[in-house]
Amino acid sequence: MGCYEDRILPHIVKFTCGMPAMRKVRRTATAGLHGDIVEIGFGSGSNVGCYPADVTSVMAIEPSDTAWAMAEDAVADSPIPITRGGLDGQRLPFADDSFDAALSTYTMCTIPDLPAALAELRRVVKPGGTLHFLEHGSAPDEKVRRWQRRIEPAQKRLGGGCHLTRDIPALLTESGWDPVELEQYYATGAPKAFGALSIGVARAT
Ligand SMILES: C[S@@+](CC[C@H](N)C(=O)[O-])C[C@H]1O[C@@H](n2cnc3c(N)ncnc32)[C@H](O)[C@@H]1O
Repeated sequence: MGCYEDRILPHIVKFTCGMPAMRKVRRTATAGLHGDIVEIGFGSGSNVGCYPADVTSVMAIEPSDTAWAMAEDAVADSPIPITRGGLDGQRLPFADDSFDAALSTYTMCTIPDLPAALAELRRVVKPGGTLHFLEHGSAPDEKVRRWQRRIEPAQKRLGGGCHLTRDIPALLTESGWDPVELEQYYATGAPKAFGALSIGVARAT
């Protein structure tokens, strides 16, 4: 990981994705989570404080040491124990059926091999468990999708590998996660190319 991606990008992500105004949608994404959960792309801990009280522990997967250090105070103050348990969502160092549920927010755009990460989540989440997600991706309108295709190469360079054109519900379905709850809309105040959101809950099929 280069200097820009490890040292600077986590601050940009915290500024853009960690705004207090986004806590409401984060609470919607985490609603219903319970028990021991694994969160891929934990970042600087923007979901800390949004976990429901029924969550008993959080296993954070995050490659960036800078992002993890930025989360230090929030992790220390959290009434729910949070541990950094791994660096890569594509290869999780846990036994099968280790967790009650999984969480991913604004991360499926970035993981290089998303099907591999979704397969890993299927493996480590207990049968009947859920994957809660809040992600941006491919827009519902072709005009916006055209822009997304144009901007994506620059976005990938500046955003640490962030894709704009991933069809998150389709990728979930192809990876054996059925999005049983799904809402899609453009985030208020964000350019449509960056703000085509998918929020919901998926169950392993
Ligand atoms: C846009 S940030 C989102 C951070 C946080 N989830 C949020 O909601 O603000 C994407 C995160 O995914 C992490 N990431 C990148 N590649 C990853 C991988 N292979 N496995 C797990 N996390 C990864 C990045 O380091 C970054 O923290």
